[in-house]
Amino acid sequence: MLALGLLGLIAMLVLAACSPNATKPYTTVSPASDTADDVQSLYILVFWLALVVFVGVQFAIVYIALKYRRTTPARQRPPQVHGNKRLEIVWTVIPAVVLLVILIPTITTLYDHDAAAQNGDIVIDVYGKQWWWEVHYGADNGQGGEDLGIITANEIHIPAGKNVVFNLRTNNVIHSFWVPRLSGKMDLSPGQVNELSITAQEPGMYYGECAEFCGAQHAWMRFTVIVHPEAEFYSWVNAQRAGNPGTTDQEADLPDGVALAPQAFSLCLSCHTVNGVTPYNVTGLDAPSSFGPDLTNIACRDTLAAGMLINNRENLETWIDDPESVKPGNYMADQIAPGLIRDTYEEDGFNELIDYLMSLQPEGGCVGAEPADGQATPVASPVAAIGDED
Ligand code: CUA
Repeated sequence: MLALGLLGLIAMLVLAACSPNATKPYTTVSPASDTADDVQSLYILVFWLALVVFVGVQFAIVYIALKYRRTTPARQRPPQVHGNKRLEIVWTVIPAVVLLVILIPTITTLYDHDAAAQNGDIVIDVYGKQWWWEVHYGADNGQGGEDLGIITANEIHIPAGKNVVFNLRTNNVIHSFWVPRLSGKMDLSPGQVNELSITAQEPGMYYGECAEFCGAQHAWMRFTVIVHPEAEFYSWVNAQRAGNPGTTDQEADLPDGVALAPQAFSLCLSCHTVNGVTPYNVTGLDAPSSFGPDLTNIACRDTLAAGMLINNRENLETWIDDPESVKPGNYMADQIAPGLIRDTYEEDGFNELIDYLMSLQPEGGCVGAEPADGQATPVASPVAAIGDED
């Protein structure tokens, strides 16, 4: 009885630790989308069934141990029996019924989600990179199927109440797309497109991460899904489409576009794109310009390096000056040796580049949502802390 009481106590403590709480950004038990709601329903069903089985078995063990224990040393052993048809039928049928009760709604939910993924209001292609996310907006079926034609990275903006279908792809290793409050995990597998439907219910910021080990910086392959009211979402779309002030009148012709930007930026354009500065027709896995994240309106992003650094001047400087020191093994570090930009373009050129990047935002200012109430941004150490270690 004591052991049972202890077990109960431990179970209560464990459960209390994971109580539904929207202020925990990675909670899996506070769903905020239709699909996550369905998963939660299954979770609750399995939880209660498992609890009933657990408590039933524990009580049966205790009851039988007490009732049939040997009370006096002299007492005879009971007759030993082998096989009992009635018992065997009972303990086969009960688990079979329990499993059926779980199986039927599970399969129904799988098919529902699959059907939802065939009928997106908005279709978004997500490409898993090492270690960041490239996001291509495709057909807006709610608005006549027009191609939204936007590319962004690591911060995915969607409208509330719309069925957004993510086509998940990778051409490198396997990643896994996971926004705990909006959906279960879905792998990105080379040579395959996996579809995931999310209808977010409330505007806000939802935190996601890669959930499949994919190399040295797997832990820093984070992203956010920013859910806007519908009108605000289209403001964001228009801002992305407009590109950046002072560059939109340029032809999609590299030398002219680069002329507006500081000289050092031409180096960035070997791997990055900016709507208005570079040809903005990057689509698909074979896109030549998708080595690095699209930088359109980069100043509006909350974080740099896939959720690793808060996007401010100091962090941007450190990131660009020595990418390896911030995120060892990342692709940009292969291109940018420590101090390369300062050495090549001098301090003035470096500062111009930082100024320029920080100016890349819409003319009317950033369109965005603050984190949902009480959600702290789960971003790691400010870069100063990383720098101090050296
Ligand atoms: Cu991508 Cu882990």
